[in-house]
Order: sequence, then structure tokens, then C-alpha cells
Amino acid sequence: MTLEIRPVREDEAVPYVEALSTAFLDRPDVKRVAQEIWPLWQDTRTWAAVVDGRICGTFRSWPTELTVPGGARLPAAGVSAVTVLPTHRRRGILRAMVATEHSAIREHGQVFGLLYAAEYPIYGRFGYGPACRESTWTLDTERTHFHGTRTGTVELVTPSQEVRATLHGVFEAWRLRQVGELRRREHSWDFELGLREEFWGPRWKGFVALHRDETGTVDGYARYHAEEKWEQRQPRNTLVLDELHAPHLTGVERQRLPDPGRGDPGAVEDLVHDPHFG
Ligand SMILES: CC(C)(COP(=O)(O)OP(=O)(O)OC[C@H]1O[C@@H](n2cnc3c(N)ncnc32)[C@H](O)[C@@H]1OP(=O)(O)O)[C@@H](O)C(=O)NCCC(=O)NCCS
Repeated sequence: MTLEIRPVREDEAVPYVEALSTAFLDRPDVKRVAQEIWPLWQDTRTWAAVVDGRICGTFRSWPTELTVPGGARLPAAGVSAVTVLPTHRRRGILRAMVATEHSAIREHGQVFGLLYAAEYPIYGRFGYGPACRESTWTLDTERTHFHGTRTGTVELVTPSQEVRATLHGVFEAWRLRQVGELRRREHSWDFELGLREEFWGPRWKGFVALHRDETGTVDGYARYHAEEKWEQRQPRNTLVLDELHAPHLTGVERQRLPDPGRGDPGAVEDLVHDPHFG
């Protein structure tokens, strides 16, 4: 087998997405994904593992910035799309892609490689380790209520470029102070607000609520969507909180649910009354 790890070329975008989606057991519209995704890959390192002329492995990273203790922000590489075709696994292709990427990371002065690892036991051997804990909370609204009294005002708004700018401002103020937070890519805002058609999954369809303090300044927001469910002809819908930034809540900032426990396991208990929490 002749193995080469090199940047993918534009004319290989379709086979690249084909390999990526096959390894992830998904069947999107590969041509469309390739066409739309290519412009977004321009500032990324997009490695292809080519075996005997065929793309058999994928590995991408994009430049980001990580806030660290003391408030500094250090350059980092956000790693994604790590796959090897099922027909070519356990022959060292991942190892070869990691070696290539890590040498590029060092060359570009990026201090961290950041990976959201589904197969986390694999990556310790390459130097990765757990950086944050994550948890998902389910609150039964019939048995839960918020502590404290309501302050300021809440307005539901329709996602738009203006709303995007407002949310961006709140998020930026947060992430510059929050250890472990990352710079968010510009196009991510469009996807997260449903302003741009998703080319892999369905477009986000949800709601945005802005919180204003007593002076009328927006100081927090929530993005949420509903999952419809009926039982015994009664609505038992679930409201999924996609993201929440609310510095005004008990003076503690919350972010990106459903991982409120990140670095703050008591976060939800502080906010709500529930018989299970006491
Ligand atoms: C995970 C994946 C990329 C591994 O690719 P690969 O080319 O088979 O990996 P390699 O042969 O280079 O193996 C590298 C090391 O990881 C180990 N490894 C590979 N797959 C593993 C697995 N599923 N579980 C445990 N260890 C594994 C190998 O034993 C090897 O260890 P060593 O070099 O220290 O002896 C591939 O299985 C894949 O694409 N899976 C589906 C997509 C996926 O889960 N991607 C990761 C998302 S985070």
C-alpha cells in the first residue's frame, strides 16, 4: 500500500466528502456538501490520506483561539472530520494523519490541538486528554421553578443579521473572560441561527430570546427549539435549550447548554428549585 498524507485539492472535494460521510455512516447529498463546504475550508488544514490514489482518510483543523487562566488567548487548532474508511482501518492511517497535523500545529505556533472525541479512548496515545466535563440536564417543568425574582425584560426576536450581531456581542464579551471558551467561526453563527441552509443536516429552526437589563441593554440571550411529543392526546413537548448566556442569573454566567456542568457542576441547582435538589 502506498500512503500519502497531503492537503486535499479542490477537484477532490467530492471524493473527500464521500470518504468522510462513509466513515461516519451517513449519506448526505455529497456533491452539494462538497460544493458548499469548499469555500468554508479555505482557512483550514484539510488533510487527505491517499492510498494507492484513493482518498481513504480525512482529517481537518481550523485556526481558533482558546481563553486560558489569566485571560490570555492562545492560538489553537480545532480538529475535526477524523475518519478512515472501514476497509482501511488499523493500518496506521490515523497515526500518519495525526503526525502530519501535529507537525503543522507546531510549525504554525498553535499551542493546543482541540478535539471533540467521540472515540475518546483512542487519543491519549497522541497526547490528547480530557479538557472539560460535560453533562446534560433534563428539567421537569411541572416540578421545577426558578429561584429568585425576575429582573429586566425578555423579548422574543426573529433571527436576522441584526440579531446575529447582538448575540455575537454578548458571546464575545463572555468568551474573552471565560477560561476554556473558544473563538466561534463566523459561519457558525449563520448555521446556529438558521440564517443559512445547512448542507449536511436540517436547518436550525428555533427561537431566540434577548434579555435586557434595567437600562435596556441586551446582556443575555437564549436559543431554543421544541421537540413535539404527544401522550394520551396531551402535549408533552420538550424544549431544548441550545445555548444560554445569562450573566444576570445569580451573577454567574451560563453558557451553551446542554453542558451547564462544564467547570461548574452546581450550575443548574443554583438556578432552580426541585425536590431532587432539595
Ligand atoms: C477512529 C479511526 C479514525 C481510527 O483510524 P485507523 O487508521 O484505524 O487508526 P490507526 O490504525 O492509525 O490506529 C492508531 C492507534 O489507535 C488504535 N485504535 C484505532 N482504532 C481504535 C479503536 N476503535 N479503539 C481503540 N483503539 C483504536 C490503534 O490500535 C493504534 O494504536 P497504536 O498505534 O498505539 O498501536 C477509524 O476507526 C474511524 O474512522 N472510525 C469512524 C469514525 C470515527 O469514529 N472517528 C473519530 C471521531 S472522534
